[in-house]
Amino acid sequence: MKSVRKLYFLIFLLSFCFIISCIKNESPSQEPFEIKIPEGFPEMVFSSDNFFTNDRWELGKKLFYEKGLSKDYSISCASCHQQALAFTDGLKKSEGIEKRLGSRNAPSLGNVGYHPYFLREGSVPTLEMQILVPIQEHVEFDFSMPEIVDRLSLSESYQKLAQKAYSRNFDAFVLTRAIACFERSLITGNSIYDKHFIQKTNDAISMNVIKGKDLFFSERTNCSQCHNGFNFTNYSFENNGLYDQYLDLGKQRATGKAEDNALFKVPSLRNVALTAPYMHDGSLLTLSEVIEHYNSGGRAHPHKNPLIKKLDLTTQQKIELKAFLESLTDQEFINNKYFAE
Ligand code: HEC
Ligand code: HEC
Repeated sequence: MKSVRKLYFLIFLLSFCFIISCIKNESPSQEPFEIKIPEGFPEMVFSSDNFFTNDRWELGKKLFYEKGLSKDYSISCASCHQQALAFTDGLKKSEGIEKRLGSRNAPSLGNVGYHPYFLREGSVPTLEMQILVPIQEHVEFDFSMPEIVDRLSLSESYQKLAQKAYSRNFDAFVLTRAIACFERSLITGNSIYDKHFIQKTNDAISMNVIKGKDLFFSERTNCSQCHNGFNFTNYSFENNGLYDQYLDLGKQRATGKAEDNALFKVPSLRNVALTAPYMHDGSLLTLSEVIEHYNSGGRAHPHKNPLIKKLDLTTQQKIELKAFLESLTDQEFINNKYFAE
C-alpha cells in the first residue's frame, strides 16, 4: 500500500515539474535579459555612471518604443530603427513627425555600443548624448527634453521604473542613460558567416560565400581595408566616390574644415542585406547596385580614397561578393524577442 502511494506521489511530482518546465519554455522572455558576447567580440563597455542592470535595460527598452517622445505622439525611436530591418527603416531618408523628410539614411543600431563616435560625421561622442539629436531635430521628434520630462514624469509607471533603475525621479539623466543601456545590448554576431568561420558550428555554407569572402578580404577589391574587424568597419572617415560633388558636407559639417568635405564614417556591414537602401543618402537601392558602384571605381571626387578603383569583376565574382555580404545576416538578432516591443 505504502509503495503505491509513493508511486502516486512520484507521478504527481514528475507531472508538476513537467508542467512548470512547459510554462517556462513557453515564455522565455520572463527570464531576465542577459548580455551575451559572441565569439571573437570584445566585452561591451558600459559607462561608469551607467553600468548594465536589468531595471535600466527594461526602462530603456520601454522608452525606445515610447511614442510620447515625439511632439504629436506619432513616432518612437523604433519607427526609424525597426528590429526586423536590423534597426533601420527601409527608407532612403528617414521620415519624422508629419512625415517630414530627414536629410540622411538611418543607420543600423546593431553593435552600436561599440562605435567610438556617432552619426555619419562622427560629431557625437556618446550614446547618451546622441539621444538628444532626434528629440530636438525638427524633422524627427521636433520636441525638447524639458517637455518630454514634464510629459513622462506624470506617468506613475515611469516614476516607479526610474526609482528602481537609477534611484531618482524620472528626468533627462534617467531617460538618456536608460535608452543608451538598451542600445548597448543590441549586439549582433551570430550570422551564417560567424557560425561557419568564427564559431565553426555550422558547416552548411555555399561555395559562393567562401569565394566571396576571399574576394572581400583580398587586395583585388580592398573591401576589408575599410570594412574590417569584428564589426566590419575601422570607423574611419572616407570618401568612396559616390559623387563628383556632394550635397551633404559629411565630416566637414562637424569640423568646418575643407579637407573633411564629403567624408563619411565607414558603416558596419553586419546585416547589410537587411539595411537597404545604402550610403549616407540611401541613393543605392540594392546590394547589386553597391557592388556595381565599387566595380566601376566610383566618381573622381578629390577626396576619394585611392583604394576605391575600377575592379573589373566577372559576373560570377559579383554573385560571390553579394553572397558573402548576405551571409552577414543574423536571424537570431532580428528575431530576438527580448528586443521586440
Ligand atoms: C525620424 C527617424 C529617426 C528617429 C525617430 C530616430 N532616429 Fe536615430 N537616426 C536616424 C538617422 C537618419 C540617423 C543618421 C543621422 C546622421 O548621421 O546625421 C540616426 C542615427 C542614430 C544613431 C547613430 C548611429 C551611428 O551609426 O552613428 C543612433 C545611436 C540612433 N540614431 C539612435 C536613436 C534613438 C535612441 C532614437 C530615439 C531617441 C532615435 N535614434 C530616433 C533616424 C531616426
Ligand atoms: C576607402 C574605404 C572603403 C573601401 C575600400 C570600401 N568601402 Fe564600402 N563604404 C565606405 C564608406 C565611407 C561607406 C559609406 C559611404 C556613405 O555613407 O556615403 C561605405 C559603404 C558601403 C556599403 C553600404 C553600407 C550601408 O549600410 O549603407 C556597402 C554594402 C559597402 N560599403 C561594401 C563595400 C564593399 C563590398 C567593398 C569592396 C568592393 C567596399 N565597401 C570597399 C568605405 C569603403
